[in-house]
Amino acid sequence: MLAIIGGSGLSRLPILEVTHRQVVRTPYGEPSCALSFGRIAGQNVVFLARHGYGHSLAPHEINYRANIWALQEMGVKGIVGIGSVGGIRHDLVPGTLVVPDNLIDYTWGRDHTFFEGPNRPVVHVDFTHPYDSALRERLIAAADKSGQAFVAGGVYACTQGPRLESTAEIRRLESDGADMVGMTGMPEAALAREVGLPYAMLCVVSNWSAGKMDSQQQVEFAEGLREAGLAKVQSLLATLCHD
Ligand code: HPA
Repeated sequence: MLAIIGGSGLSRLPILEVTHRQVVRTPYGEPSCALSFGRIAGQNVVFLARHGYGHSLAPHEINYRANIWALQEMGVKGIVGIGSVGGIRHDLVPGTLVVPDNLIDYTWGRDHTFFEGPNRPVVHVDFTHPYDSALRERLIAAADKSGQAFVAGGVYACTQGPRLESTAEIRRLESDGADMVGMTGMPEAALAREVGLPYAMLCVVSNWSAGKMDSQQQVEFAEGLREAGLAKVQSLLATLCHD
């Protein structure tokens, strides 16, 4: 069974035929909301809305540990995290789908590990390649097959939010090697690695990051393209589950 964590704009997944919902409690507290179980193109899927129903949780308020723990308890075999991002690299225009291949974490103060506290060992998981390569390949193959324009690769910068970045911050991220910026990709990816679950991200570019386009155009641009991007995500997920 595959898990899908939906981000901004995807607190429901219309293509998911929901069979039941389950409230799960974990040693780390409650996940963002109840898990929705169902099928996409005949494949069993569990869906979790990262920001909760009705988008009530800001990126720094999300209980990432409870989310990952709950999915692991349900016996999922992999997690696809959907996230919206601001484009930094010139080809990451709003509306584009991206499957990042690496990340940089700028978040702080989030509960970001399972390996802490008196009864837990100190463990340093390998994070050389933060995203699972087999799951990435499946996403890329599905994107190819569904005929969606997408970009295979790029570095995801995770900022703390909830505010957007300043132009100087975006210049810094760019010189650090980041291609896109979001607020929820970490510690999600690292926690999945800690419990041994394959994890990959599918990102939708919803806007140009700060300073990459003047702000008026930004707003006009973002409106329709964001919707279109979310529709593309669903079509890609349908293809992914079909295979
Ligand atoms: N910055 C940070 N996170 C984001 C952005 C952005 O421009 N767009 C969507 N998520």
